[in-house]
Amino acid sequence: MKIKYKYKYKEESWVYSRIVKNHFFHPRNVLLDDAHYKADGIGVAGSPTCGDMMIVWIKIDKKSRKIKECKWRTFGCASAIASTSMMSVMVTEKGGMDIKKAINLKPQQILERLGGLPDRKFHCSVLGDIALREAINNYSKKQPKKYAKKRK
Ligand code: FES
Repeated sequence: MKIKYKYKYKEESWVYSRIVKNHFFHPRNVLLDDAHYKADGIGVAGSPTCGDMMIVWIKIDKKSRKIKECKWRTFGCASAIASTSMMSVMVTEKGGMDIKKAINLKPQQILERLGGLPDRKFHCSVLGDIALREAINNYSKKQPKKYAKKRK
């Protein structure tokens, strides 16, 4: 039996960039089973707009204070998956991002690397960013006072 669809799929109607699609279909640094994962910091964020959730786990190099690993899991949409995947790459590439710099990472910087997202999907792109900040704060709270910094 042949199914008739009301709307025909057209490649050009898909508003996501090639990079967004790549990170959605091949998300980097996803952690599906965290039962034995020893994180230095954990952060959770939820979107009041759609009710989706994000969790981020980080491992920090104690000497350099750079992020060595950034794992995540979400029940969010394609935009949340792609933007958090990109975020996890950005904070771990080139030897890892300093936690001071990472806590100030802006969603706009992630969107730039993704080649943009539709405006109505902006709230999805901040989930990973918020959870990362929570994870860094969670880590910082366990450190001596001088390292505990809030986002500017
Ligand atoms: Fe909920 Fe995108 S619609 S994360």
